Amino acid sequence: MKGIILHGGHGTRLRPLTHTGPKQLLKIANKPMSQYALEDLRDSGITDIAIIIGDVYPEKVKEYYGDGKKFGVTLTYVYQDKPQGIAHAISLCKDFVGDEKFCVYLGDNVLRTGLSSYVTKFESTAKEAIILLAEVENPSQFGVVEIKDKKIIKIIEKPKNPPSNLAVIGVYFLTPKIFDIIQQLKPSWRGEFEITEALQLLMDSKMDLDYDYVSGWWKDTGTPNDILHANKLILESMTKSNNNDGIFIGKNCTIDPESKIIGPVIIGDNCTIKHSVTIGPNVSIGKNSHLDNCNIKNSIVMDDCVICASIKVIDSIIADGTEIKNNDSNESVYLLGERSKITL
Ligand code: DAU
Repeated sequence: MKGIILHGGHGTRLRPLTHTGPKQLLKIANKPMSQYALEDLRDSGITDIAIIIGDVYPEKVKEYYGDGKKFGVTLTYVYQDKPQGIAHAISLCKDFVGDEKFCVYLGDNVLRTGLSSYVTKFESTAKEAIILLAEVENPSQFGVVEIKDKKIIKIIEKPKNPPSNLAVIGVYFLTPKIFDIIQQLKPSWRGEFEITEALQLLMDSKMDLDYDYVSGWWKDTGTPNDILHANKLILESMTKSNNNDGIFIGKNCTIDPESKIIGPVIIGDNCTIKHSVTIGPNVSIGKNSHLDNCNIKNSIVMDDCVICASIKVIDSIIADGTEIKNNDSNESVYLLGERSKITL
């Protein structure tokens, strides 16, 4: 079975974080979110993977993942010139897929349980697709299914009046039959070639589609709050699997024993944490960062940051290379990128 990771799109709801890179490279618990997708595919035995790259700094994706060897996979890059929909992105992979079954993983989705059981199920079935479902509180923001007598009878993209609270998550098991179906699609109300419409057409053409429920949590990381929630869920899961206090510290860190670290917390390599600092719970600090005087809770601080100021940072995402420092006067000095957000 082959794999496809979607790494395109514009990530508009995550600006300004996505002005300088694709959203799927934003780090959650110190790892790019798309790396969770890549590792899930790899760990379920799928190592021949295409990554769809778009028009937001695609070279950064290539630079990070390279030929895939470092991650135990073989990578092919497929370029999508603008985001025309998930089905459009999939259609670009026809040659890559050949006549094999394949799994499409949206690079901004994160799953707790991994894929192995679903991969095994799809390998041995004659069905043309398997989709995964999860109960959500806000179904209008997802593809939603209607089920009757244990069969899916309808799939609708972001319905105003959802027929159920069962969302289609961003992992799809498909066969090459989908390529002919995608060719029949017309752009939707949002101007995209929708995978949900392709799946509906597949059912209308009397082809079999199966489903399964996701066990454990699943997160679509479309907004800053989703990213912070995913950060918390991943850190909690790491704590459970390691059966420890949930404090993960990288190499070459200098951590003052008087600082207060409340797990779950991850700190990257080469960080300095001074005595007056309180961190946690639910905090990720990227590599080469320097913290003094601050109190950080439920937040992500990325790589190469300096926070040396008597401030409380809560529910925040602070991107690479940010500096927050006290000065001797009461005046604040800002150099903020487009669409920055500060709540004082
Ligand atoms: O997360 C699950 C949901 O994902 C499903 O319930 C929906 O049915 C499905 O349409 C999708 O909805 P979103 O509105 O969240 O999709 P989004 O536009 O955020 O794109 C999903 C991922 O695919 C994201 O990582 C960007 C990437 N993408 C998207 C488009 C439209 C591409 O690589 N190329 C594209 O053309």
